[in-house]
Amino acid sequence: MLLVFLLTFLLHYATCANILYVAPIASPSLQRWNRALAMGLRNRGHNITMLSHDAEKGPLPQNFSLILLEGIYDILDSKFESNEIKEDTAVKTMRALFKHVEFCCGHDFNTTGFKTLQEYPKTFKFDLIIFDASYGRCFYPLITRFNNPPAVAVTPYRLPPILSNAFGNHLHTSYTPYYNTEFSTKMSFLERLWNFFYTYVEVMYRKNSFSPKENKLVKDYFGEETPSLRDYERNMSLLLANVDFIFDFPMALPPNIIAVGGLHLTPSKPLPKDLQKIMDDSKNGVIYFSLGSYLRSDKLTTAQQEGLVEAFEQLPQTILWKFEGDSIPGLSSNVILRKSFPQNDILGHKNIKLFITHGGILSTQEAMFHAVPVVGIPFRSDQRANIRRMERRQTARLINYKNLTAAHILENVMEVLSNPIYKNNMRLVARRYRDQPLTALQRGIYWIEYVMRHKNVDHLVLPARDMDGYQTANLDILACLLMMCVMIYISYLFLPAALRITYETLRNHIQAK
Ligand SMILES: *[C@@H]1O[C@H](CO)[C@@H](O)[C@H](O)[C@H]1NC(C)=O
Ligand SMILES: *[C@@H]1O[C@H](CO)[C@@H](O)[C@H](O)[C@H]1NC(C)=O
Ligand SMILES: *[C@@H]1O[C@H](CO)[C@@H](O)[C@H](O)[C@H]1NC(C)=O
Ligand SMILES: *[C@@H]1O[C@H](CO)[C@@H](O)[C@H](O)[C@H]1NC(C)=O
Ligand SMILES: *[C@@H]1O[C@H](CO)[C@@H](O)[C@H](O)[C@H]1NC(C)=O
Repeated sequence: MLLVFLLTFLLHYATCANILYVAPIASPSLQRWNRALAMGLRNRGHNITMLSHDAEKGPLPQNFSLILLEGIYDILDSKFESNEIKEDTAVKTMRALFKHVEFCCGHDFNTTGFKTLQEYPKTFKFDLIIFDASYGRCFYPLITRFNNPPAVAVTPYRLPPILSNAFGNHLHTSYTPYYNTEFSTKMSFLERLWNFFYTYVEVMYRKNSFSPKENKLVKDYFGEETPSLRDYERNMSLLLANVDFIFDFPMALPPNIIAVGGLHLTPSKPLPKDLQKIMDDSKNGVIYFSLGSYLRSDKLTTAQQEGLVEAFEQLPQTILWKFEGDSIPGLSSNVILRKSFPQNDILGHKNIKLFITHGGILSTQEAMFHAVPVVGIPFRSDQRANIRRMERRQTARLINYKNLTAAHILENVMEVLSNPIYKNNMRLVARRYRDQPLTALQRGIYWIEYVMRHKNVDHLVLPARDMDGYQTANLDILACLLMMCVMIYISYLFLPAALRITYETLRNHIQAK
């Protein structure tokens, strides 16, 4: 009897963990991904405490607490006039990201949300801490604060080279394109050169420019004796990254980097009644147009909006347009504006024909999951690269946002709607992606629980994690071999001459005698 009680207690203890989930980048879309993982863990029976910039819309679910890092969106909204778009190079985009992360850190330490967490009892026990580690590390000292529980890093941001590198992966720049470039896995010499450059600029920039600032921020707040963030990072058990081998491409990963690409993807649910009716009744199908959670289509220029209106007018489909303003003049009756739509459920409806998107990671993953062909209008960051990759597989067409004329929009929309190759290729991608023994979310949860069961997972770490880059790339070996070759070659060149000289000297010497 006692044994049974003890066993149930142990099992219960083993399955219900207290987990802190730290999401330090202010971004509604990254939060969507992080929240999907957090909710997956909660549904397994764990108690989740989430530190985030994004408030919950409805009431909090049971066993899910949110500590809000308040106020950052007010500052960001006033700082950036939305859609203030510049086409930036991969390096500028990367630097802007680091800047954003640095700004978030500085802000977050001053929030009451963070103070609430700091005021938890000193002995409060978290069984695990999960960090969204994309680009920033300034919350890592929470590990010490909560008495060194195991920690797992996650990133919705594909797989940034800095993280890949930090977890001991080789940066296979010869066939793994930097995610902000339009390169494919097959690169010309010049492309490989650029790809090498971009990848290592990110690694070097963080090491030499960002890390010192980040460490200073942390030391100012947590105290001078705080270990360096690099040491914390070395102790992180696993990295769950939003990559997969179908939507992305095959890539080499060490055992401690787990591909959980698209873990936010779920089958669609029935739509709200009115939308369900609209979509069911659309005999010619539905086109969904949304620029995501950050860009706002009401901030497009009047000319751009007019181009869209004029193009949509000429289409027989119903168009659902996520539009943040009140109305647009001259809109035809087949266009329905709303401030928000249940995107995933729309993309899962049988009458959806086309998704016009900005090409953010999560949106493109959703389009592929539901096999909806895409017309992409990328604006910033990795969006252009995402759409280019889909275009290469003939699942999408790319429109330059500077060229949003009715003719150009129609040309691309008609091409994707009328040529079945786009839909067929999308079906193929979706079928391959769905054919996995575990869903990405299940895989992520499995590995997080694995860390809690085994605590230390150094047995999954490649020794490369602790080696210098020149060693893992065998540069020292190559240099040594090169030197030997040079020496052999030199001796080969000069040996005959040296022998002849020796011989002649000797002969002269003998003759002289
Ligand atoms: C919440 O946690 C408690 C105790 O860990 C558990 O008994 C309960 O089933 C959980 N509720 C949900 C909805 O998971
Ligand atoms: C669950 O998390 C909340 C918020 O951090 C905490 O107050 C509560 O004590 C936790 N529950 C358990 C059973 O640890
Ligand atoms: C945070 O608070 C400190 C002390 O109150 C202040 O010096 C610092 O400027 C604040 N930082 C930010 C980003 O608001
Ligand atoms: C990393 O782990 C080692 C071994 O468990 C421990 O001694 C060290 O304090 C940890 N470092 C940090 C910064 O947590
Ligand atoms: C802009 O649109 C026109 C009209 O469809 C097209 O001919 C042209 O190639 C487009 N330019 C760019 C840069 O996409």
